[in-house]
Amino acid sequence: MSVKFYRAENQVPLEMHKVRVVQKLTLLPVEERMRAIQAAGNNTFLLRNRDIYLDMITDSGVNAMSDRQTAAMHVADDSYAGSESFYRFKAAVKEVFGVDNVLPTHQGRAAENILATRYITPGKSALMNFHFTTTKAHVTRMGGEVIELVHKSGLEPINDEPFKGDFDLKELEETIQRLTPEKVGFVRVEAGTNLIGGQPVSLENMCAVADICHKYGVVSVLDASLLQDNVYFMKTREAQCKYMSTREIYHLLADKMDIIYFSARKLGFARGGAIISHNSDIIKGLMEFIPLFEGFLTYGGIDVRSIEAMAEGLLESLDMDYISHGPEFINYLVKELDDYGVPVIKPAGGLGAHINCQEFVPDMPHNQYPAAAVSAAIYIAGGIRPMERGTLSEQREPDGTERYAELELARLAVPRRVFTLSQLKYVADRVKWLWDNRELIGGLKWVEEPEVLRFFFGRLKEIGHWQEDLVDKFRQDFGDSL
Ligand code: F0G
Repeated sequence: MSVKFYRAENQVPLEMHKVRVVQKLTLLPVEERMRAIQAAGNNTFLLRNRDIYLDMITDSGVNAMSDRQTAAMHVADDSYAGSESFYRFKAAVKEVFGVDNVLPTHQGRAAENILATRYITPGKSALMNFHFTTTKAHVTRMGGEVIELVHKSGLEPINDEPFKGDFDLKELEETIQRLTPEKVGFVRVEAGTNLIGGQPVSLENMCAVADICHKYGVVSVLDASLLQDNVYFMKTREAQCKYMSTREIYHLLADKMDIIYFSARKLGFARGGAIISHNSDIIKGLMEFIPLFEGFLTYGGIDVRSIEAMAEGLLESLDMDYISHGPEFINYLVKELDDYGVPVIKPAGGLGAHINCQEFVPDMPHNQYPAAAVSAAIYIAGGIRPMERGTLSEQREPDGTERYAELELARLAVPRRVFTLSQLKYVADRVKWLWDNRELIGGLKWVEEPEVLRFFFGRLKEIGHWQEDLVDKFRQDFGDSL
């Protein structure tokens, strides 16, 4: 979005929408925030919403819906089979991706379940630029292995590369040759690479991945959950995309990839998900799993109102005014933090701002969960809920040893069209305060550690009394402020 301010120092990202429905928020006193996070086992997933001022745990299913989306929900057509809502969704997929074949799934991980069930057997590998938690869990559940082939810049917290989510193409080709194509379940490109800081993949790289898959007869899959941010970065960072319309980009990707799936909790500002493909044989091989796991082919476990919202939201994913909001607000937050010296993943990506906790608390070992400790501290500092994206979000190795994450990140997601700029300024201010008091932050230890997806419901305890010390310092610096 290119609205230039008269005074350069006044320049901020400008919303091309207005807010017409509001929800009241509360901010608890700092002592109560500490008690709340301790009661939640220092796991931000286990906090209650009523105790949170700004919920930045995710942008999934919490994006604000537009007037057109909520209006569409009123005309939803309830039926088990043949719902008109599904046909409106199908038409939206056709408009955005140019694809006729659509299988609805109740959300993104449901699509992953189906793809893993169809393509992964013990001994097969899924090659990815980077894994996502649920994707990996489904591949390993089927006895397969995930191999990550992101370009090395992707794992460097600070690197000017505009597309840090790109595949290392040479390694991709060598890996397919080494494993042999028969042993590759599929190759998955994750747009807007979630776990390495919402970093985009270039159009050129995505197309090259598809070409390599084609050459070896391997199935290519695009996880388009974070594609709308990624398309914004293609438009603004990649020369060949500057004069392409967003629609042309979506269409080209659908032409290149064998399969596209997405979480509509992200792509489309709604809830739900889908698998799409030009290839009818591929669709036939996946179709039987929809009634088995999800629901009939015309609802896929999604409520019809959400299908309507998904259809409208998908169309809005073509609109640069809408899709620029997330990346531009995120860029603002990242710049505020970076200017102050707070270690953040750069360049700013999509999804949210990502704090590099290895630098925030450099002396804390991985097995005291630095990203979880910083996340708990951010909640105490400001009632702001981040998500741990580090060692805690990893699975232990089959022999029980800890798998240390490549990056220890505390993610501050920026749900689309939800927060104001003053709220983001508050977030930056509280994190700056925490950065100045970082030596107070201590580690965490397990109280209850689940075996699968432990980050969702595991409980931890603070080591020592660092949280009380943080609260005392807050009171010294902020007086009786909330
Ligand atoms: N793929 C990516 C890249 C995702 O970011 C997500 C979800 C999924 C698949 C799974 O989709 O949640 O609809 O089942 N990411 C959320 C997040 C949970 O907070 O980053 P889902």
